[in-house]
Amino acid sequence: MNLIESLLSPAGRADPFPLYAEAHRLGPVLPITDSAFLVVGYAASNEVLRNPGFRIPTNPSSQPSLELMQRSILRANPPDHGRMRSLISQVFTPRRVAALQPAIEAAVDGLIDGLPAEVDFMDRFAFQLPVTVICELLGVPASERDRFRPLASDLTAALELTDTSDGSADAAARELGEYFAHLIRNPAADGLVSALVAARDAGDGRLSDEELLGNLILLLVAGFETTTDLLGNGLAILLDRPELTSTARSDPAAFVEEVLRYDSPVQLTTRVAHTEGLSAGGVPMPAGSDLILLLGAANRDPARFPRPDEFDPARTDNKPLSFGAGAHICLGNSLARLEGTIAFTRLVERYSSITAEGQAARRDRLVLRGYRTLPVRLTAAGCHPGATA
Ligand code: HEM
Repeated sequence: MNLIESLLSPAGRADPFPLYAEAHRLGPVLPITDSAFLVVGYAASNEVLRNPGFRIPTNPSSQPSLELMQRSILRANPPDHGRMRSLISQVFTPRRVAALQPAIEAAVDGLIDGLPAEVDFMDRFAFQLPVTVICELLGVPASERDRFRPLASDLTAALELTDTSDGSADAAARELGEYFAHLIRNPAADGLVSALVAARDAGDGRLSDEELLGNLILLLVAGFETTTDLLGNGLAILLDRPELTSTARSDPAAFVEEVLRYDSPVQLTTRVAHTEGLSAGGVPMPAGSDLILLLGAANRDPARFPRPDEFDPARTDNKPLSFGAGAHICLGNSLARLEGTIAFTRLVERYSSITAEGQAARRDRLVLRGYRTLPVRLTAAGCHPGATA
């Protein structure tokens, strides 16, 4: 079995890290065919992400479920990408994100207040926090939020290298499209939706109807499954190694950064060589070549991170590629980091111990890596272990 087949196998999806280590021994860029390459090295991945000669693959015959998202910045190339990105970053400003801090803190405290002593962390916390925050930002009423979890999960199944969504991704795309079309007609005042509607209505061609819809769906979907996985992957590490709780308490931002490196919620992305004369990691890339960038492998590159398979929040110069790099670098990276930092700060403050209680299970995905269920027992600070929180 070759490396890519192994990664797509159930064992590879469950634990790709030994395969990444094997890949690093072979080199930073591995040919799959004459015109398809696996990029695993940190420097080579960074180089490709930052070089405008490599573009987002646009495949007109792709699944209908992804058609709306094809109109979003995530799937756009120059000149459309720059036009949309400057518009969206104007309304998705660091100020707007920073202003969410009190709301995030209140949401975290509210969720913790409602947690029983034995609980599925994914269900009652890791999913709830990001969906609350992104809906707050977009102006989606609280009553509507629960329906998004299955819809987003169905839709993102279409992002896997092998789509196993059985039509459910198309149905989810239709339902999300209808919901957001309604939200566009009735936007909450001062929300991000109304700011983007105003940009579309300026009539100067800065944002079309389809682009507005595609970007709103992208913000919802990109904004919560990934952050849900960051929270779950981080908690699973604390369950395995409770001695790390003190680091999560003293430097939660460094803890979150190392979770991003060690168990990245987004394991890969793709690019295509748009022009002649390109190379990656010293390997020539003929125009039209397809590249799979294994961000999760780049984050474990021994040439960039000493002892890459060790979880060490104290490492210096920790700059994982979990949010990508270059023109498409994640627009929500500061929001995701803020949510993660506040969540782990509060969790380790409010509980003296968090232990596994039952069988954790991962989602069967390669691209978006996270847990389906993570059952835990929580002991509130000030209580004796074993007492009810
Ligand atoms: C831990 C959480 C997150 C991770 C790991 C993550 C990861 C990524 C990655 C890897 C990309 C770049 C893909 C590429 O270059 O092909 C990206 C793009 C993007 N992300 Fe995130 N993301 C996270 C959270 C968020 C949040 C909270 C939001 C918004 C609320 C968001 C919105 C976006 C958008 C809009 C893009 C497209 C940017 C562009 O193409 O110009 N993400 N994200």
